[in-house]
Amino acid sequence: MSKKRPVVIGIAGGSGSGKTSVTHAIHDVFKEHSVVVIEQDYYYKDQSHLEFEQRLSTNYDHPNAFDTDLLIEDVKRLLNRQAIEKPVYDYALHTRAKETIHIEPQDVIILEGILVLEDERLRELMDIKLFVDTDSDLRIIRRIVRDINERGRSIDSVVDQYLSVVRPMHNQFIEPTKRYADIIIPEGGQNEVAIDLMVTKIKTILESETIV
Ligand code: CTP
Repeated sequence: MSKKRPVVIGIAGGSGSGKTSVTHAIHDVFKEHSVVVIEQDYYYKDQSHLEFEQRLSTNYDHPNAFDTDLLIEDVKRLLNRQAIEKPVYDYALHTRAKETIHIEPQDVIILEGILVLEDERLRELMDIKLFVDTDSDLRIIRRIVRDINERGRSIDSVVDQYLSVVRPMHNQFIEPTKRYADIIIPEGGQNEVAIDLMVTKIKTILESETIV
């Protein structure tokens, strides 16, 4: 196993912006290296002590919805070449699942989520900070399709949640984190030039990191 310090890449952006496709594009290139993806979504706070109805009223687009202390702890462990038990989030039950995923430390750590650039302590752990910048009309279309097909939601609930929570929280908390990004990527995973630039930079860091 390599003893170099892992490279940490933060990938932020609004809901439906294409963070997942950017993550996959980078992941695919680094098959020869070990890569781990940490989704901020998996670190939503455990809500098992709340009734199901109460969980429905949680604001999932606010920084307080996330167990950021645990996320920071886990990234630090991976940086120290220690394994973690990554939590699993159950979108149907709106709470943390009982099982965890065992993750071994890897050379490249991709930290992906709407608010990964919001917390200063997390930002300080990152070598490269990306913001995927996609127009809101495309984001809402993707969100409607995904939430109906994959998360079992109705069109009315998606539209209502978007207007009452997702949009205002995006403007208040997510969009302002763009200023912390080293690179702003328009159109996410379709932007091959930006992905190539990213990959080159990651390789440079991987080759230059000093042995610890
Ligand atoms: N969310 C939800 N219900 C929950 C928990 C989270 O609807 N119980 C929603 C939040 O409203 C938040 C979104 O999940 O806006 C975060 O995921 P998102 O960024 O949309 O998904 P990714 O696939 O990670 O990102 P992308 O679409 O950019 O690839």
